[in-house]
Amino acid sequence: MTDVKELLLSRIRDVADYPEPGVMFKDITPLLADPAAFTALTDALAEVVERTGATKVVGLEARGFILGAPVAIRAGVGFIPVRKAGKLPGATLSQAYDLEYGSAEIEVHAEDLNAGDRVLIVDDVLATGGTAEAAIQLIRRAGAEVAGIAVLMELGFLAGRARLEPALGGAPLEALLVV
Ligand code: PRP
Ligand code: MG
Repeated sequence: MTDVKELLLSRIRDVADYPEPGVMFKDITPLLADPAAFTALTDALAEVVERTGATKVVGLEARGFILGAPVAIRAGVGFIPVRKAGKLPGATLSQAYDLEYGSAEIEVHAEDLNAGDRVLIVDDVLATGGTAEAAIQLIRRAGAEVAGIAVLMELGFLAGRARLEPALGGAPLEALLVV
């Protein structure tokens, strides 16, 4: 494991039985509070923007906003928020999806993504892949291209990668850590 990955891993806190019994929650707040670790994470994800030729970053509410916004600035591209339903004032596209615990709906402003855009999806965790799969559908329905997905960590035992790879059609799924 590289020094950067060891630093990132050391700043993620495992919280047992949250938000419900049997779930091991991956708490990234210690990483966010450490400027060296947050900068290293931002740099690593911005490198994925550059490598994939993405022209926009989509961040997934809420933790994908915290990670994605500095990545977009570092990479010099626009940031597009994909929000939970009912939060965006303009004309939206909506997509329902299943969560690790429960279900939800996400939305994007239709005018924010267009043909010719190459979009990198940024989030903190890939678990079942339901959220990211819904984001892929939103981006494609808006007419844009998915350049890839970049996450801080992939929960390998939940097989989100296997779920997403057919939908990605060869675009990369980059996880800095697999836990
Ligand atoms: C969490 C996490 C990912 C998603 C991963 O978000 O931040 O976005 O679940 O799960 P999946 O791969 O099974 O879809 P959540 O909506 O729980 O909370 P947040 O608003 O704090 O990001
Ligand atoms: Mg989330």
